[in-house]
Amino acid sequence: MKNILLILITFTYGITLSACEVNQYESDRASATSEVSEANIDSLVSLMTLDEKIGMIHASSSFTSGGVPRLGIPELVFSDGPHGVRHEHGRGWHAIEGYDDRSTYLPVGINLASTWNRDLGYQFGEVLGNEAKERGKNVLLGPGINIIRSPLNGRNFEYLSEDPYLTGEMAVGYVLGLQEQGIAACPKHYAANNQETDRHNIDVIISKRALHEIYFPAFRDVVVDGGAWSIMGAYNKINGQYTTHHEYLNNEILKGKWGFDGVVVSDWASVKDTREALIYGTDIEMGTELLRDFDNPVYEEFYMANPAKEMIESGEIDEKYVDDKVRRILRLMYRSTALTDHGPGQRNVEEHQQVALEVAREGIVLLKNDGLLPLAKNEIETLAVIGHNATRKYAERGGSSQVPALYEITPLEGIENLMGDDVEVIYAEGYEPYYDESLFADITGDAASQSRENVREVELARSANEQLMQEAIELAELADAVIFVGGWIKGHEGMPWGEGTYDAEARDKLNLKLIFGQEELIQRINEANDNTAIVLMGGSNVEMENWLPDSRAYLHAWYPGMEGGTAIAEILFGEVNPSGKLPMTFSNAHTDYPSHSIGEFPGDGTVDYAEDIYVGYRYFDTHDRDIFFPFGFGLSYTTIEFSDMDLTVNDDVVLVQSTITNTGDREGAEVVQVYVHHKDPSVDRPIRELKGFEKVHLDAGESVTVEIELDEMAFSYFHPDQLEWVMEPGEYQIQVGNSSRDIKLTQNVEL
Ligand code: BGC
Repeated sequence: MKNILLILITFTYGITLSACEVNQYESDRASATSEVSEANIDSLVSLMTLDEKIGMIHASSSFTSGGVPRLGIPELVFSDGPHGVRHEHGRGWHAIEGYDDRSTYLPVGINLASTWNRDLGYQFGEVLGNEAKERGKNVLLGPGINIIRSPLNGRNFEYLSEDPYLTGEMAVGYVLGLQEQGIAACPKHYAANNQETDRHNIDVIISKRALHEIYFPAFRDVVVDGGAWSIMGAYNKINGQYTTHHEYLNNEILKGKWGFDGVVVSDWASVKDTREALIYGTDIEMGTELLRDFDNPVYEEFYMANPAKEMIESGEIDEKYVDDKVRRILRLMYRSTALTDHGPGQRNVEEHQQVALEVAREGIVLLKNDGLLPLAKNEIETLAVIGHNATRKYAERGGSSQVPALYEITPLEGIENLMGDDVEVIYAEGYEPYYDESLFADITGDAASQSRENVREVELARSANEQLMQEAIELAELADAVIFVGGWIKGHEGMPWGEGTYDAEARDKLNLKLIFGQEELIQRINEANDNTAIVLMGGSNVEMENWLPDSRAYLHAWYPGMEGGTAIAEILFGEVNPSGKLPMTFSNAHTDYPSHSIGEFPGDGTVDYAEDIYVGYRYFDTHDRDIFFPFGFGLSYTTIEFSDMDLTVNDDVVLVQSTITNTGDREGAEVVQVYVHHKDPSVDRPIRELKGFEKVHLDAGESVTVEIELDEMAFSYFHPDQLEWVMEPGEYQIQVGNSSRDIKLTQNVEL
């Protein structure tokens, strides 16, 4: 606080600070652990002119908001994104060429969630915080914690899960790890931002119960348990009002009920109304130039710049609203590297790359294995690796979450590294991202985004390259084993019909059909070589009915970061025992999902969340629908048994104990999942809801008793009429298992 006190005294004596003195104050920052002094913040606000305050509540460049040099208040510096620190942009919108910004590229959010390992969530945040600090940032725009409502959402790879509890638990660790480094987390996008189609305007029609039970809990967790210093509003509307300046979301719930004392940052260009932004809780407006003039931004014309000033000067809006925003921003600045010294950061160190590797190892999910895996290196002379995704790099693609990776080990490289000179690795691309430009001459720009239903586009996206396929089959025939690496593509660069075909921001997928003829390719490889393992990448599942039954092994690798290729190879060859578990249900077609079969997706102007609280397994399990792979599912190379369940009730806290034993002959890990079911609820409730989990690593033969506590919230639901959380007395069944469809032990408890 020393610097600010000094500023106050100086100011009282009417001395204007010179630029050089200001710099001195900037370098003379308070120590890392200091408590934020509200009195100091108040005094500072009282010294500011209206212009200075207004300058702080909107952008001053693409990734900064304004400071007050006269008082030693710096600009606040933001950076994307959820799984790595984004390219350096300077003050504009183009990555600066040749800039030293290479950074650690961690696996994407859904890969982190698949680890079900809270410690890794923490380490993930720590790495990001450390690197963001080294790059001179104050706020990191992550984690992405929107619920996976439909498998078609183009940004699912950035998000964590279809389940609010798993999302919250993993995100809290991330936030704590990040902020421990002095970098503010900015969990996003609050709230119900579950599609990219029409993302700037779509109006989500949704019940309060669904908001509170499904779409809010992870945000509540990062605020209440994680202590997030900022939150990002979303683009969409909820029930008619833009979420970034939503009275209920921001004022009543976030800042009211959850007691959030941090900063609500808009999404980039999500502010649409000055008055609402001023009074309904938006604290900083960013990115508005993206919808106006991208290359010539006029920051004074932002909604929360001159228009806000005019409303205050005319008396239409009380200045107290601006004071509150400025106070929040200063609080964040004191907490973070903006005004407090948190020590130097580190970038591209081996420890960070090791975290990227660990997350990939624990987050890649083995879904099918008839005994083919792990492959035995000493039984293979020639190994064919087939598939475009085996060599494609993903770090710098997909939208705002792109990372200038220091390096990225592709699956082919990972496999070659592990095989060394012992095995001959041969490669064929097999399929290629392909399009015939002439067919799309008439579908460009805005029209392209209208082309979702364009059959020609869809057909083309599915088409195979016969020659590449033929080459691949020939290799498959002569190899001892085949690893096919395919799936989705992340990024939309340069592909007009990429609209709706990829994992990417601002796009949703059209359906879950495997693209570029991969379905036929897999079928033909399976016929050509009986020792074929399938590895798919992607922020969601693909349709499986035509290729999975004849495939012997299937590994889902998401987008596994800079060490992804290493981890894939280690798992395929048994150096690492897989322990990832699905954070979303894998059904066959997107039309199976409740967002499509009951509710709407992507809607048209409005999107009706008619499935209400029945998202993901809450729907599939309650209605006993056929699926391919359930929520929480993932195979291991060892066998784990569950036994000896015990419940103890103490003051409405239920302690669930169970024993797990590794009955196989190698080490491995299991996730003990605890689901709660009310046996006779007075309102509709899902057949099960995840309320606790613990990941345990076990040596061969080892046995561990796991204890998981369920508090009152684990049994409560959001009452649709009383509009508050209610814990209903009655009999509850506690279910312990290792997926939502594999409940091993149950016991009832009367509460
Ligand atoms: C995205 C955000 C991102 C922001 C800044 C927006 O388009 O929705 O997630 O943080 O851009 O790049």
